[in-house]
Amino acid sequence: MTDETCQRQGFDGWLRWRDATERALYGPGGFFLRPEGPAGHFRTSVHASPLFAGAVARLLARVAQELDTEELAFVDVGAGRGELLTGVLAAVDPGLRVRPYGVERAPRPPGLDQRIVWTDRVPDGERGLLFANEWLDNVPADVAQVDAAGAVRFVEVRSDGTERLGGPVDGPDAQWLERWWPLREPGDRAEIGRPRDEAWAAAAGALTAGTAVAVDYAHLSPARPPFGTLTAFRHGRETAPVPDGTCDLTAHVAMDACAAAYGATAASRPAPCAATATPGEGSEILTQREALHRLGVTGTRPPLSLASSDPTAYIRALATAGEATELTAPGGLGDFLWLVQRVTPTVGPTVG
Ligand SMILES: C[S@@+](CC[C@H](N)C(=O)[O-])C[C@H]1O[C@@H](n2cnc3c(N)ncnc32)[C@H](O)[C@@H]1O
Repeated sequence: MTDETCQRQGFDGWLRWRDATERALYGPGGFFLRPEGPAGHFRTSVHASPLFAGAVARLLARVAQELDTEELAFVDVGAGRGELLTGVLAAVDPGLRVRPYGVERAPRPPGLDQRIVWTDRVPDGERGLLFANEWLDNVPADVAQVDAAGAVRFVEVRSDGTERLGGPVDGPDAQWLERWWPLREPGDRAEIGRPRDEAWAAAAGALTAGTAVAVDYAHLSPARPPFGTLTAFRHGRETAPVPDGTCDLTAHVAMDACAAAYGATAASRPAPCAATATPGEGSEILTQREALHRLGVTGTRPPLSLASSDPTAYIRALATAGEATELTAPGGLGDFLWLVQRVTPTVGPTVG
């Protein structure tokens, strides 16, 4: 990163975390708009191994089968610099006609495959697979904390990262906390996931048929982390969250709340979507380990006999097994959660 791109993006005074994050990540000179892109600061599953794109390409083929079509959309939300799209297009069965979309707030990267439509909005009315890897954790959210008297208040922050408690949390934010992440003891803290729920419901709801998948660092009720998960990454290292545009700001996703939000929105839509629409129905939440196993990614080592019969193939297979292990490892990428949302009454669960 050059000195120029490393410039801090300050703001005066105090902001709630949602507004501060919005400015720091997506405002002028914001972290995600910088030329080096997310891959300059952290490794997602997409960067860890091409096996990930291969698995997503197989999932796309399954969705095509379920929709009984050879032509469908692949919509990558929070597409970074198009790495997953590029990998999926390289891996997908050539018999499939794919309409690829990269949905991103950053500009189109140079040299991207011309077939890819680059847009800052999820296309409306497509049939196919919508996939969002590590998108929702970067949708800005407010932070709440219980004060010494037991009141739940918004946390405010300055652009140097100093925090203080602001006004009381009320209205829909208070309802969200009560339903999904109740705070009880002084010092308890949570990220209010409402903007993630809304973002997910809108993205998945834009499909007319197919499957929508969100993959992220996540937690489920009732096992929420007592002090929240807001943190930051810069140049591959975890660092203190400071909303000055020099680091990623991220917080784990309340995945069950997102699933229910889609269900609730779908319920208010006319049929046929309403047929799947009771909250949670048509959705499945599973670990990345399980999801990738179902899609054929396992860390099985090659047989030792291969080492003598074909040493080159053995070494290649060993490397592949190592990459699969990284993608599915407990305590690492394997613990990510996949929210798999079915968006039609006629298809079954699509991972498995
Ligand atoms: C952590 S990166 C993940 C990139 C890529 N999916 C990967 O797995 O490597 C999150 C990306 O989401 C993008 N993003 C965040 N909010 C968005 C929105 N509302 N619409 C489109 N892209 C968004 C950011 O600009 C950033 O590139």
